[in-house]
Parts: sequence; structure tokens; C-alpha cells
Amino acid sequence: METTEIGINRTGIATSKGRAEAMLEAAQTFSVVAESDATPVAEVRARYAEESDPVGSVPPPPSIKGAVKAVAGELLGNQPFQLIDKLGERLAFERTGARLYEAILGKLRHEGEFAGGPTIEEIERIVLQEYSHFRLIDSIIRRIGGDPTVVTPSANLHATMSAGILAVAVDPRTTLVQSLEAALLAELTDNEGWETLLELLVEGKETVELEDVQQAVRDESDHLALVRSWLAAAQERETVPFDL
Ligand SMILES: [Fe+2]
Ligand SMILES: [Fe+2]
Repeated sequence: METTEIGINRTGIATSKGRAEAMLEAAQTFSVVAESDATPVAEVRARYAEESDPVGSVPPPPSIKGAVKAVAGELLGNQPFQLIDKLGERLAFERTGARLYEAILGKLRHEGEFAGGPTIEEIERIVLQEYSHFRLIDSIIRRIGGDPTVVTPSANLHATMSAGILAVAVDPRTTLVQSLEAALLAELTDNEGWETLLELLVEGKETVELEDVQQAVRDESDHLALVRSWLAAAQERETVPFDL
């Protein structure tokens, strides 16, 4: 079950009424800007953006086969290198996904199962599925002549966005249920990512692994439903049917 500790938390101003009043008074006395206006900072950011390099690039395929296909445009549909970029993104994410569930498995073994929560067998199965998704993406990248060791721009972006997910799960202070919250965030974006990838593969006429990719999409949808049901059980509420 999810437990929320009551302890000495001094982050709110209600714990120190006198100082809170002094702080508000000081803010009114010394504040220079009366109204909040984000325009000046946006202008500064825009100037920096003009001078900055992009977060990364997709290298040309290392193999002759890949290069020929890319130049011919047949590899990636009408969006050059977008498929490689997205494949790189999913590859990195699945690797993190496997590590995430390994961390959750550790917490589950340590804390023990709870009613309506995950079993050790279920988490072990998800770890294996995340591994197999990783290998599937790796094999697609190799088949179309790409280099699976490349950190693509989208992989870089997603690594930054999801950095907190694994950080939560490996933090010794967090509980199993708190780590499942991190898994929920991961699965929501993973579901979106796999469906996007499926569409890009179909549009790029890269259908060799289509059935495996469709299976991965089903696996991810299954993961999401499971995580949602475990969190609902931990919070002693009914699972709301998932329908976005
Ligand atoms: Fe995944
Ligand atoms: Fe998953």
C-alpha cells in the first residue's frame, strides 16, 4: 500500500507564520517588476537559439547499402533520416526501460508484494520484453544500414526528458510504489513512441519486422494497463478504464 509519511517538512510557509509575513512584506518592498512578463527572457533565449548548434545530427548510414537507400529516398519515406532518428530514440528508451524494471524488481524483492500490485514474475516478464524490444530495434537499425551505437538527436532529447524516471527508481529513499509512478510516466511516452515508430515504418515501407513491432506495441499497451492497475491498488481506488 502507498504510505505517506508525516514528518518535519519545512518547505511550506505555514510552518513559520511570523517569517512568512516578513518575507511577503520584503517582497512587496523590494520587488522591481510589478507584473510578470516573460517577453524579455524569451528575446534573450531567441538570440541564443540563433547562435546555437542543434542538439545533434543523424550521421549518413555507414554501409553502402544504407547510403544508397537513403539517397534514393526509399529508406525513410519523404522525411530523410527521421526514421533513423526515431529508431535511435526508441533504442535508448528501451535500454532505460529494462534498467527501470530491474530497479523495480529490486524494490519488489526487498519490500515484498502487496495486494493488487505486481508479482515478481510479472516484472521479470516485462524486463525480458523490454530487452527483446531493444534487440528488435537494434536489428532494424542494422538491417536498414544504420549504426545502432549512434546517439541520435531524438535519443538525446528523450534521454534528457526521461533522466528523472530512472533517477527515481534507483533512489534508495523511494518506495516500490513511488517507482511505479516513474514507470507510469515511462510507459505513457513509450506507448506514444512505439505507435509513432510503427507509423513511420509503414510509411517508409519498412515492413520486414512489422509483426514484431506490432507485438511490441501490444506489449507496451499491456505494460501501461498493468502499471495503472498496480497504482490504483496501491492507492486503494478502482482502476479507471484507460481511454485517451
Ligand atoms: Fe518499452
Ligand atoms: Fe514498457
